[in-house]
Amino acid sequence: MTTDDIIQTEEAVEIPTYSKFPMALAKGEGSTVWDTDGNKYLDFYGGHCVALLGHCPPRVVQAVQEQAEKLLFYSNVAHSPIRAEAAQKLVDLAPDGLGQVFFANSGSEANETALKLARTYTGRSAVVALEGAFHGRTVGALATTHNETYRAPYTDILPETRFVPWGDHEALKDALAPGDVAAVILEPIQSIAGMRMLPPVCAPGLRELCDAHGTLLIFDEVQTGVGRTGTFSISEHYGITPDLISLAKSLGAGVPVSAVLVSDAIAATVESGDQGSTFGGGMLAMAAVAACLDTLVEENLMDRATAIHAQLAEGLEGLVEEVRGKGCLIGLQLDRPVKPVLNALRDHGVLAGSSADPHVMRIMPPLTSTDDDVQRFIDTFKQVLAPAAA
Ligand SMILES: Cc1ncc(COP(=O)(O)O)c(C=O)c1O
Repeated sequence: MTTDDIIQTEEAVEIPTYSKFPMALAKGEGSTVWDTDGNKYLDFYGGHCVALLGHCPPRVVQAVQEQAEKLLFYSNVAHSPIRAEAAQKLVDLAPDGLGQVFFANSGSEANETALKLARTYTGRSAVVALEGAFHGRTVGALATTHNETYRAPYTDILPETRFVPWGDHEALKDALAPGDVAAVILEPIQSIAGMRMLPPVCAPGLRELCDAHGTLLIFDEVQTGVGRTGTFSISEHYGITPDLISLAKSLGAGVPVSAVLVSDAIAATVESGDQGSTFGGGMLAMAAVAACLDTLVEENLMDRATAIHAQLAEGLEGLVEEVRGKGCLIGLQLDRPVKPVLNALRDHGVLAGSSADPHVMRIMPPLTSTDDDVQRFIDTFKQVLAPAAA
């Protein structure tokens, strides 16, 4: 099949819900992907923030291959050595007090699980989310996603959510005041909204407010989690512990899997049948999780996330108005619209992403990126900006 054939076939037989890069990808290794015409790209997008360890990380590939030859899948009706190993490794890395896990398959499913657990635990039904939030597109998760583009056609079937402006403590107080709120759900860094970071000063107040109203705090760490921002959970950076944390994207280093980390208090009240997922905790996904976590820890990659951020921030000084985010979850505020810059970067062999803010570009480099990879991004970025600046 030629590249044109591939593109035409996908366009003919898949519903047109995605806007895709005008290329087809054939293979990847480390921070690099190759298209079907043999062109090479430095990938600082990571397929929506998934490639935590770069593409085809050898330990993950080997673990999945070995598991595939033993047992591809069995559901949670049976125990599994690889699930036990992955679950133990995950809770060992989780913040203290979040000692149990539920495995699912996508970020949306993890968030819906967290919301269900919060409702059951508190016996309340109201949910508070923040303006600009993106928590997924399945109905329960979509209810907490703020952007009208995603919500508008479905508002009649979405459970009601109280949205409060980002960083507005008074509005949050008002929303919790009736005492009927099961949970506040938020992304500690609103990535898709334009890499808006929760100001550290807001975090303790947020925890106290939730405690005062008997409301649970859910951190959607689908993007920030698994070491991407320099600590396993970004809650460690904020010095507060949420009651529930959802993880996805990076967790399987490219293999679809998600998880909810659950506080000991909530876990103690969960009963058989409260939640379930046929494929959640499947063997291939668990092999990927265990190998991903081993690689993250043994290669000190969380420190690397911080170093990569520092190198980028220094190299891009003066070229961008602001470097946002943390670790390898980065927003670049430009003085011009991002779209043409992204296209030019791609023409120069570099992949990066857009956001809901037309002036904010998102880059999510793998934690395994070398200094040379980072320098190449900086050099290409300079080159691409230069003609327009001249
Ligand atoms: C913060 C956040 N939460 C939830 C989701 C939904 O994840 P998924 O697409 O795996 O359902 C996403 C997806 O981009 C996300 O960025």
